[in-house]
Amino acid sequence: MLTEEEMICLLKADLSPHRFSHTLGVRDTAVELACIHLGDEHICRTAGILHDCAKSLTESQMLDLISRFDIELYPGEKENPELLHAPAGAALAQEKYKVNDKKIIKAIRNHTLGPKGMSLEEAIVFVADFIEPSRKSFDGLEWVRQLARKDIHAAVDECKRLTKEYCIQNGRVLLDF
Ligand SMILES: [Fe+2]
Ligand SMILES: [Fe+2]
Repeated sequence: MLTEEEMICLLKADLSPHRFSHTLGVRDTAVELACIHLGDEHICRTAGILHDCAKSLTESQMLDLISRFDIELYPGEKENPELLHAPAGAALAQEKYKVNDKKIIKAIRNHTLGPKGMSLEEAIVFVADFIEPSRKSFDGLEWVRQLARKDIHAAVDECKRLTKEYCIQNGRVLLDF
């Protein structure tokens, strides 16, 4: 696996400034939540850094990575290209960042949809993505931030509930997980 410094350097070159600062926010929030909930700090930190690593790829680059690494897509993912950076990121983490820890790869893979039965570390990265400090404020965000520090799995449910609400209000496709 590359060092954190090397990862940061590559991400800074690949991502927009906004996405890059979001990435650092997710890393720091994931580490904080790992400390509170006694999760594995290394897994949360690395998955936090890399969770959006495939964000600037084209759709065909993402689909190519997904098929080369034999990553199974969830129903509806292929039809919603904005979701593909999660499975593509799980592949890119292995190919470009030389990650081979399955728990890190899975936390990257599941960070968009938060499927049922996630590990503590997967739940932490999923919630950290939602609440990191640079997220634009919206109704319910402060409440999830508080909840995340008390009960991480309840925070996962609340993030999904708020996403669902947002999708309904904005006429977006809703994937139920
Ligand atoms: Fe993402
Ligand atoms: Fe993200």
